[in-house]
Amino acid sequence: MAQTEHTTNDADGRDALIAQRCPYSDIVLFGGDREPLAGYAELDTLRESGPAHTVSSGEIIYTTYDLVQEVAQRADVFHSKPHDPSSSEEAQFALVPQTVDGPLHVKWRRLLASSFSPGAVARLEDSLRARVNELIDGFIDRGHCDFTHEFALRFPTAIFLQHIIGLPVENLDQFIAWETDILHPRSTDPAEQRQTVIRAQTEVTAYLSEILEERRKTPTEERGTDLISRAMEWQIDGEPIPHEDLLSFYLLLFEAGLDTVTASLGYGFHHLASHPADRERIVADPAIIPNAAEEMLRAYSVANITRTAVADAEVDGCPVKKGQRFILSVSAGNRDEQHFPDAATVDFDRSDISHLAFGAGPHRCLGSHLARRELAIAYEEWHKRIPVYEVDPDIPFTENRSTMMGLNSLPLKWDPSTTRK
Ligand code: HEM
Repeated sequence: MAQTEHTTNDADGRDALIAQRCPYSDIVLFGGDREPLAGYAELDTLRESGPAHTVSSGEIIYTTYDLVQEVAQRADVFHSKPHDPSSSEEAQFALVPQTVDGPLHVKWRRLLASSFSPGAVARLEDSLRARVNELIDGFIDRGHCDFTHEFALRFPTAIFLQHIIGLPVENLDQFIAWETDILHPRSTDPAEQRQTVIRAQTEVTAYLSEILEERRKTPTEERGTDLISRAMEWQIDGEPIPHEDLLSFYLLLFEAGLDTVTASLGYGFHHLASHPADRERIVADPAIIPNAAEEMLRAYSVANITRTAVADAEVDGCPVKKGQRFILSVSAGNRDEQHFPDAATVDFDRSDISHLAFGAGPHRCLGSHLARRELAIAYEEWHKRIPVYEVDPDIPFTENRSTMMGLNSLPLKWDPSTTRK
């Protein structure tokens, strides 16, 4: 990866310091595919060459654990607003509460806390296990599957449909198509990509809007326990939540709660398929799964965070200007040797796994308890039934290049005689 000094005609000391402390890096963060796990290797190299870099798209990227954590926690200065709030597209698809800051954000988080608590997630336990087993039933006898498409995408999306918006899972394929178009549009042309994203966001928003309207008309006693039904009673400052805000909240859940789980499952199962000793430990002693899952979340963190400075500030002794955009690379920070010895190695016995995979500060992941249960149950149920499997060496697969890491597909294979029906 080429590192060049960021040149500027401005002789002012601030710019000189930024050039020195945030050298330009030509790392490509968006668009295209690459070898599986190449993204982590690139970010490791970037972090080893310095904690902060300016990238071609104009953002400053922070790569160390301390800087990612610090900036995520300084929510008074570093807002998670859309990149261009004046753009009507961005405003139309604002993602509440991620794009809200300050006191209103605190009110949203208080309102949502009980719906995403460990207790609320525990009530989904049986349903999560049943869904995992139903998906495994679909391919176990075949001896192979594309793990990304046949399992990792379908599992969290089915849970979203069933428990968040309260619909039967018949619409699963349509939701997966929208999810793919919004988060992984396949076109290489940026304008076409943008169009695909906007079209899918418009369609999914229209669909969710219809459901909200229907649910409003349903008598209270006939509503379910899903999150749309419950939202009918929600209030902030004594007022019901405006329709538009509810819509953007469900769009956020759709965008934040599906792909992240899919991608984390992909890297986790890729690791276990290619590290038999770790896989055998999980099979022999499922009690290690919670720790193992945390360690895999750390080493293969998928969600990198964006922020915009709303005032001039200083980070790590370096001035930053109001309006500057940032990428807080959780994927790099969680593999920082200064924080985690031998950080690139997955070690199920690691005692300090205080990772940032779910972010830090006020916007820390609202769905972390649900995500943890989804991951743990997937590891538990899968290994009871398919204990021995490997990555199929004959089928090539790739990783997508974006601030959200993920495997585009993952070909796994096993001998059906080693499985348990
Ligand atoms: C392994 C899976 C997941 C990972 C790695 C993950 C990661 C993250 C990260 C890093 C953030 C912070 C974003 C920021 O600071 O800008 C975040 C926020 C968020 N996540 Fe997750 N997430 C996961 C699963 C989920 C699930 C299952 C849901 C819900 C269904 C969810 C809902 C949210 C919401 C609503 C926010 C915004 C919170 C706020 O702004 O206050 N996430 N997530």
